[in-house]
Parts: sequence; structure tokens; C-alpha cells
Amino acid sequence: MAFQLSSVVPWGRNMEEYKAMFLLNEEDMKKKIAGFGDGPASFNFEAHCLGYDITSYDPIYQFTKNELEKRIEDVRAVVMKQMSENRENYIWTKIHSLEELEQIRMEAMKLFLNDFETGLSEKRYRYHELPKCVPVENNYYDIGLSSHFLLMYTQLGYDFHIKAINEMMRVCKEVRIFPVVDLDASQTDMISNVICELKKKYTVEMKETNYQFQKNANKMLLIRKI
Ligand SMILES: C[S@@+](CC[C@H](N)C(=O)[O-])C[C@H]1O[C@@H](n2cnc3c(N)ncnc32)[C@H](O)[C@@H]1O
Repeated sequence: MAFQLSSVVPWGRNMEEYKAMFLLNEEDMKKKIAGFGDGPASFNFEAHCLGYDITSYDPIYQFTKNELEKRIEDVRAVVMKQMSENRENYIWTKIHSLEELEQIRMEAMKLFLNDFETGLSEKRYRYHELPKCVPVENNYYDIGLSSHFLLMYTQLGYDFHIKAINEMMRVCKEVRIFPVVDLDASQTDMISNVICELKKKYTVEMKETNYQFQKNANKMLLIRKI
């Protein structure tokens, strides 16, 4: 089935959040990084401005800037209403209020939108849908990232996750996934089964990170080739 923009809730994080979620130090940032499911995050733009080499992959990059801008505007109120209804599931120490959260997310997505067409032409944003083959050679990237996509959407299923992570591991020397919980912040059986399968092929570590907004979601999965 064709990928529908109406099925996506675009909600982007910024570079500071990416660095904290994935424990990216200066050494890591200098490496060749690919973000899968980066969507409207401003990580690519902000890191690019500092001279780092980031490529973002996402199915939403097939749409135009105007289409993405409209979708972001359409879902903004819906997401904020959900956040308001579920505010007790979040830790409000770094981000202090719903208003501040909305401002941080909208700022990140505005940076993304303003950079989108330039980034597309520079091939920093690439239309791609996991688990399809990424059109680069094996081990092309040093680090592959997935923020708030893989493992979170458990409804995509076990097979999808194994195929998607294997394809990321083909093109990246290591993969980092944050968080290691589903949308309800639970570590489900599917997540445990995926980790169990990955351990047969790779070195897998669970690392506590510097980032926690959703309660129970402060761990990153680090997957390396044996
Ligand atoms: C919740 S957003 C996370 C955006 C960004 N990573 C962040 O943390 O700010 C999830 C993203 O996953 C993308 N996505 C959905 N299906 C995908 C697929 N099959 N392959 C890659 N990305 C996908 C969506 O388009 C969306 O941009």
C-alpha cells in the first residue's frame, strides 16, 4: 500500500535532544551518520550548519514542503491535546510546560521546513522507506540512528523490525535506537523478542542516556557487528 502522509504525525526533535538521546559525543558527531525516520527533526539542519555529515531517510521526504507544512499545522492541535491529556506520563524537569514543549517542537520543525528543499537537493534528505534496501554499499555509514520510530510502533510487527534493523546494520557499522519502549512506555514482548533475535547476530547493549521526557523511556539500544 502506498505511504500516506495522512497516516503520519510529524513531530520533530532538535539536535540537542538527538545528542542526549543517542549519547553522541564530539567524536561520534564527526563520523558519517544516517538517521532513519528523521521526519521533520532539525538534527540534520543544525548538525549540517556545524559542518557534520548527516543523511536523513524518511518516506515523508517524497512530499513537497507545502504538503509537509500543512500536515504539521493540521496535527499540531491534535498532538498538543493528546499531550495535555497524558501529561502525567511525562517528566517536566527539562521541558517545563506544554507551551514550552509546543514551542520547542515547532521551532525544530520550522528549521527543518526552511532547510528541506536545500537539503533535498544536497541529498541530505532522502526519500526512503524501511525495510527497503538503502541504496548505498555495506558499512557506508559509521552510525545509524532511529529516534522515536523503530521499536516504538510495535504494530509494525516483529518481521518488519528484524528486516529494518538488519538493513540498517548492513549499511551502518553500528545502530542506535531510542527509546526501547512502545508508545505507552512499556517494554513489550515484541521488543524483547526482537532484542533476543538481534543478539544471535550482533553485540547488543542497553545504555542509559541523558534524555528522559516520556517516563520509563531513558534507554537506548546500541547494536554493533560482532
Ligand atoms: C514520531 S516521528 C520521529 C521523527 C524524528 N525521528 C524525531 O524523533 O524527531 C516517526 C517518523 O518515522 C517515519 N516513518 C514511518 N514509517 C517509516 C518507514 N517505513 N521507514 C522509515 N521511516 C518511517 C515517519 O514518517 C516519521 O517521520
